[in-house]
Amino acid sequence: MWLWTVLPFFTLFPVDGVVVVTPELEKRFPDNFLFGVSSSAYQIEGSWNVDGKGQSIWDYYPHKQPEIVQDCTNADVTADSYRLFKQDIQILKHLGVKSYRFSISWTRILPDGTTNYINPRGIAHYRKFIDLLLENDILPFVTLFHWDLPIAFGKNGSWLNENTVDRFGDYVRVAFLAFGDKVKHWITINEPYILCLYSYELGMLPPLIKSPGKGFYECGRNMLLGHAKAYRIYDEEFRFQGGEVGLTLDAQWPIAASGSEEDAEAVKDYLALYVGQYLDPVIKGDYPQRLTARVAAASARQGTESRLRPLTEEEKKFIHGTYDFIGINHYTSVMVYRNESVNGMYEKPSFYDDVGIGIYVNDSWPASSLDFMKEYAPGFYSLLLYLKDTYNNPLVYITENGFPLSSAEGLDDRKKVNYIRNYLDALMDARADGSNCQGYFVWSLMDSFEWAAGYQYKFGLYQVDFDDPDKKRTARKSALVYKEIIRTGTIDVSYDPDPYQHNGSLY
Ligand code: NOJ
Repeated sequence: MWLWTVLPFFTLFPVDGVVVVTPELEKRFPDNFLFGVSSSAYQIEGSWNVDGKGQSIWDYYPHKQPEIVQDCTNADVTADSYRLFKQDIQILKHLGVKSYRFSISWTRILPDGTTNYINPRGIAHYRKFIDLLLENDILPFVTLFHWDLPIAFGKNGSWLNENTVDRFGDYVRVAFLAFGDKVKHWITINEPYILCLYSYELGMLPPLIKSPGKGFYECGRNMLLGHAKAYRIYDEEFRFQGGEVGLTLDAQWPIAASGSEEDAEAVKDYLALYVGQYLDPVIKGDYPQRLTARVAAASARQGTESRLRPLTEEEKKFIHGTYDFIGINHYTSVMVYRNESVNGMYEKPSFYDDVGIGIYVNDSWPASSLDFMKEYAPGFYSLLLYLKDTYNNPLVYITENGFPLSSAEGLDDRKKVNYIRNYLDALMDARADGSNCQGYFVWSLMDSFEWAAGYQYKFGLYQVDFDDPDKKRTARKSALVYKEIIRTGTIDVSYDPDPYQHNGSLY
């Protein structure tokens, strides 16, 4: 099936028996392709303690231990989007996106995390926000959990405690009730892998629980159960609202560093342990065999039973099939290898040791300002086709894709422009080859608080002046180019707008 329209510029025709014209095809996204931009509540909203909002772990820990964020900052104010939301919707409108992905802050609507008290001001804010988006023809694409867990659970085992799964269920029910008449796209949980790794394996992010090789798997398990609970609540109680519910995973593409058998195995293990850990139970009904085998083997070597608790039959059934779509956050490809040098490279026990592979990014790929993120669009194409072939061609939305730069790049962020163009081109190729990817969201609408990295990296299509009391937003070149891609549905590499001509205006 052709998912995008192919318009021949030239037709092939023989002249004097020789074919003289190379066919050039214009690739075009269909009108209903969901172009959008992404953000999350804690990263851009600010107003951390207004209108009855309760504290999340992200309000609490950076106040208590500022050093957990590299530049000792926090997001008390950040881009001030809670206050400036009307202006932000004007920007979205001008950008021409069809959808805006944002997250709801759990503690704005349930200040202590539970349904003991539902905060009417929190509900009113998001309703106003959603209404205004819809008035401007922008579909809300809502993440229910983007890491800002209520502090009450943060001090009580967080996602290591199964009680959190039930409380998450209570919270999403309130959200479906309050907003489901207007919101038709719901993401339950954002990036279980990254969250579980940094918060429950390495202990670097709130709630700072260091439990290598154990907490990581328990967190992932509870997140799968939490996701499934949210999906089932929607399915059983709110399906009449006519929306879609999915899970967002981060998925980077692994490439074998050599032609060796071991490196080919490393690729398969990477995909099973990083992606399959979450996707297999949801789509196929259980953890991938490669994952259970590797963790069991490493645990046995360490004299313990498997640190990955198997899912019970009941849990498998509960999780299996809980998706209407899969959200994918994709940023980079990685080179992977397995040889002698990997032995002893990682702490034991740990997730990295369980996977047992070495990872690096290829120096020849164009660099962002983060060492581990580089541009390699063919990897994105391969990932989309892998999802299609391995998981029965699910409906996919790319819920994040982006390229961080430093503030030195200013408004002329041409590296980000190249990145977005090349990734969108790869996406079109993947669609032409059968991928059921129906939407793409740039991370991010504007510069924001980048978790442990604070404000160092600039992902925004819009620059934010964090020193300005009004947090002035200014369009970068990437915003102007993305706007044109959305407007035309095509990628015109000769379009080269000058962002400095726009300086002084929001757009
Ligand atoms: C992953 C997360 O969902 C988002 O919060 C983060 O800012 C971006 N990717 C960039 O690292």
